[in-house]
Order: sequence, then structure tokens, then C-alpha cells
Amino acid sequence: MALSAGEIKLVTDSWTAVYANKKANGVALFVRLFSENPGFQSQFRYLDGVSGLAAIEKTPALGDHAVKVMDTINSWIGSLGDSSAMVAKLTALGTSHIALKVTPANFDAMGPVLLWMLQEKAGGAFTPAAKDAWAKGWDLMKSHIVKALQG
Ligand code: HEM
Repeated sequence: MALSAGEIKLVTDSWTAVYANKKANGVALFVRLFSENPGFQSQFRYLDGVSGLAAIEKTPALGDHAVKVMDTINSWIGSLGDSSAMVAKLTALGTSHIALKVTPANFDAMGPVLLWMLQEKAGGAFTPAAKDAWAKGWDLMKSHIVKALQG
């Protein structure tokens, strides 16, 4: 179900707080993804031969990738009020991840990690109402990604 104008504002305001520091927060997002899901590391070719979370965190390619991911999410947030534009972007992401062998389970794991980043890094903007709006927003985004991922 689409987000209300109030929910879009809650998502946008808390996102703006984390996007202001996109590289560091994007790296923190991935380090958390790997610490919670150690098996995922092997899906990322630029982490071949990199061992341990401290080394992962310092890998330059992870910083570059993290910025791309944060920019992509930022573009989705900017389209929350324009459903057809947002669905087109989410579908493109899902389709691009088929060849990367990413699974729906990978995207299921991303939700709690995204919420963790917001909780840790968005300061006061991540209110209980913002958390509820994000949970609803991520479910909506994920549903379109997974639909495209499954062809
Ligand atoms: C918020 C969700 C996600 C976003 C916004 C995102 C975004 C991106 C972007 C922008 C790229 C660069 C290539 C491209 O444009 O297709 C990429 C690559 C990639 N993504 Fe995602 N992604 C997300 C979730 C995931 C998940 C959950 C996984 C697996 C656990 C994953 C695995 C990969 C891999 C393996 C690559 C290739 C990295 C490389 O070797 O350079 N992504 N992603």
C-alpha cells in the first residue's frame, strides 16, 4: 500500500540525516549486513580474499559500492510520491540483480539492516513513527524488487 504524505515526510527526514554522511553510513550498512549474515560476503567479488569485518570495512571497493547503494536508495526516496517512477526504479534494480545471483532472501536480510542504520545514524529523526513508516516503505520497495528479481 502506498505511503501517506505524512509517512513520506517521516521517511524522507530520517533518510536525509543518514544520507548526509553517505559513505561512512553506507559502509556501516554493509559491515552490519555481513556481521549479521556472514554467508553473504562470498557473493561480492571485490571481497574475495578479504577476511574479517575490520578488513572489509577498510576495502576501498566497498566504499565505492556503498556510495552507489546509498545514491540508489536516495533516488527511490525521492520518488516515493510518484509511484510509477519509483516502481520503474525498483524494477530496474531487481532486474540488474538477477545476473548478480542475488536472492529474495538477500533482500529480506537487508530490511532489518537498513532499519538498524537509521536507528544508529539518523539521531532524533528516527522516531517511533518514522520507524513504522520505514517498515511499511521498505516492505513496499522490497515487494517490487523481488517481483522483478523473480522475473
Ligand atoms: C537496498 C538494496 C540494494 C541496493 C540499492 C543495491 C544497489 C546496487 C548497485 C547500485 C549496484 C551496482 C551495480 C548495479 O547498478 O546493478 C549493486 C551491485 C551489487 N549488489 Fe546490490 N543493492 C541492494 C541490495 C543488494 C543485496 C541485498 C545484495 C546481496 C546480499 C546485493 C548484492 C550485490 C552485488 C553482489 C553487486 C555487485 C558488486 C560488485 O561486484 O561490484 N545487493 N547493488
